[in-house]
Amino acid sequence: MIYAQNGKFLLNGKGFSYAMFIDGQGFLQKLHFGGQIIPSDLDFLICGIGKIQEPPFDNPNRESYLDGMPAECPFFGRIDTCEPMITAVRSDGAVVSRFIYSSHKIYDGVPNVKGMPCARGGGQTLAITLKDNFSPIEVTLNYTVWDDLNVVVKNCEIFNGGGDSVFLTRAFSFCCDFTDERFDVMRLWGDWGKERSPEISPLSHGITRLQSTRGVSSHQINPFLALIKPDCDENVGECYGFQLVYSGSFVLSAELGNKGQTRVIGGINDLNFRWKLDSGERFFTPQAIICYSNEGLGGMSRAYADYIRAQIVRPKWVNARRPVLVNNWEATYFDFNNERLFPIADEAARLGIDTFVLDDGWFGKRDGAASGLGDWYVNTSKLKGGLKPLIDRCKQNGLKFGLWFEPEMVSRDSDLFRAHPDWIISKSGYEPALQRNQLVLDFSRAEVVDYIFNSVSDVIKNNDISYVKWDMNRYLSEFYSPALPADRQGELAHRYILGVYRLADMLTNAFPDVFFEGCASGGGRFDTGMLYYFPQIWTSDDTDGYERAKIQWGTSLCYPLSAMSCHVSACPNHQTERVVPLGTRGNIASLGATGYELDLTKLSNEEKAQVAEQITEYKKIDDLVLRGDLYRLSSPFDSPIFCMAVVSKDKTLAYVVGERALTLPRDVNRIIRIYGLDDGKMYRVRELNLTASGGALKTAGLPVPKTGDFGSWTWHIEQITTTGK
Ligand code: GLA
Repeated sequence: MIYAQNGKFLLNGKGFSYAMFIDGQGFLQKLHFGGQIIPSDLDFLICGIGKIQEPPFDNPNRESYLDGMPAECPFFGRIDTCEPMITAVRSDGAVVSRFIYSSHKIYDGVPNVKGMPCARGGGQTLAITLKDNFSPIEVTLNYTVWDDLNVVVKNCEIFNGGGDSVFLTRAFSFCCDFTDERFDVMRLWGDWGKERSPEISPLSHGITRLQSTRGVSSHQINPFLALIKPDCDENVGECYGFQLVYSGSFVLSAELGNKGQTRVIGGINDLNFRWKLDSGERFFTPQAIICYSNEGLGGMSRAYADYIRAQIVRPKWVNARRPVLVNNWEATYFDFNNERLFPIADEAARLGIDTFVLDDGWFGKRDGAASGLGDWYVNTSKLKGGLKPLIDRCKQNGLKFGLWFEPEMVSRDSDLFRAHPDWIISKSGYEPALQRNQLVLDFSRAEVVDYIFNSVSDVIKNNDISYVKWDMNRYLSEFYSPALPADRQGELAHRYILGVYRLADMLTNAFPDVFFEGCASGGGRFDTGMLYYFPQIWTSDDTDGYERAKIQWGTSLCYPLSAMSCHVSACPNHQTERVVPLGTRGNIASLGATGYELDLTKLSNEEKAQVAEQITEYKKIDDLVLRGDLYRLSSPFDSPIFCMAVVSKDKTLAYVVGERALTLPRDVNRIIRIYGLDDGKMYRVRELNLTASGGALKTAGLPVPKTGDFGSWTWHIEQITTTGK
């Protein structure tokens, strides 16, 4: 619900309110973001705590109150010296601006964010336009809320209404100010093989800037930041989440000002960003999904999960069953032929797997990582007869077939590079920096994107393919496109991502029944931008049953379990060399879209029986895992125990997975409290054959079972009809 009257605005979502007003000078001030309030509270907020008082109009120093004012669109060069949201250099070199209210409109539905992933529909939008009376620039701030979702989605559009071009040197998506300083800042940091570890530090004076400069959202810092009140934990307390629907270089920064005010701001990274906006043109910034929770971090995660399922994931796949697949990468790496692959497919079918995925190495001259990328035609010296014999074998076995591509890349040793050496991102004179021996195609060029669309489409069209894994194994460097004029080179990184989105859009629309999975050297581009096209993403190349639990824990802070592709792989693990029981690997992989990534033919008969059992059990709970509410119960970062529960929306079912890292001496009395159930209802815990009320399971908890090192357990909890009286 959106309320607007006399320059006051109130946006109410499912369990929060966001309020603003236009002050006497026309500046848009933030009044409130937190628990729900009603329209009549706005006057109280304006006259009371919420407002930074403006001096009378005849006071010669009247704009000094901008320093510390909670601004919705802070600008550069006046008295507010904290981070501005937009900077635009005009033809006379001036950057100073002063954005004041011009008009607003409210409409049903969501704004269109041209060429970028964004909210899909429903809801109500408030669009407030601000003008700078001394320059041609207009800013429209969009806010969308839904009655049944706990987020507000913001972005802005920048319009050049004048005669000369301007250069945007910063075009952030949002600003969110707080008249409060008592926060901790959470970020998800990592690297290849250890993506998205939560790290919390006190918000301190100055700027905490989280960013990627790599052209992708990155393994290193996810485009997510949370402000957490000191008394907030998993289940109680207040926190705020900020997440960008963007897959390129980004910034999210939290600034603690010297007046005790906090500013969170973010969007496309402004480092080397310079966008030429000609007269009459409009620039669209990515959306930010902003969340308030008073149910701790768990409430924030559930709000994000609900939003992503409702508004980001392609509707066709939100409730569709995910394929349980076997992927040949860790089974064979590049060294395969039909003789090696057929037995894996045969075994997969016997064990109950649905889809066989052929990973890297099936195309061009690709016998290792140094060649072949870009040549999307079958390597028939490796796969005699092309893909058909393997696909036929899968079909005879009742399996579907999936294929790996890395559409954005090219190898130097490839027909594509020999034909179009100028199609890469590079600056002549600088030897292009290689990563994994590969170069990045210049997706800012429409003809490059179109070429890749045609060549990937031909493979999908001419073969019976039901699943595609879209990989991306390096970052951008030498940010330069020979196809762009000098004054547009600062547009390259953003134009690249727009090209990626265009290709993803074209392919997923051309093949609506094909299931696409995202990947970037594991989880190097795990963000809501990619989830808009690909309903699940390969969470990490690290499939070690212990490390993976931590990665999935961190990822779950702002993404649903349904977004995470999770595989059981061989032991010793290829990344850590650790040996973790097969049962634990299966249990951890069951907390997402599950699959297998090992040579199934090398398993013993007992192991095969265990895998078949895991798949049968997974197919009983997949709906709950992929659509239920997540409750994190014990953190592997703070204790030797990992434990998570997924509870059905109607609270009749729960699936709990726990894992112990190293066993400690006399570590006997650990209890896990089960959150998320209905206190007054009775439940049965299958594995323990115990009956208890939801209240008892929460306040008294269940004892952690004895397991060896890296052992694990599950609890299947079901509501029974007896009442808890
Ligand atoms: C990346 C992916 C892996 C695999 C390889 C293939 O590392 O994350 O899953 O597909 O590429 O080269």
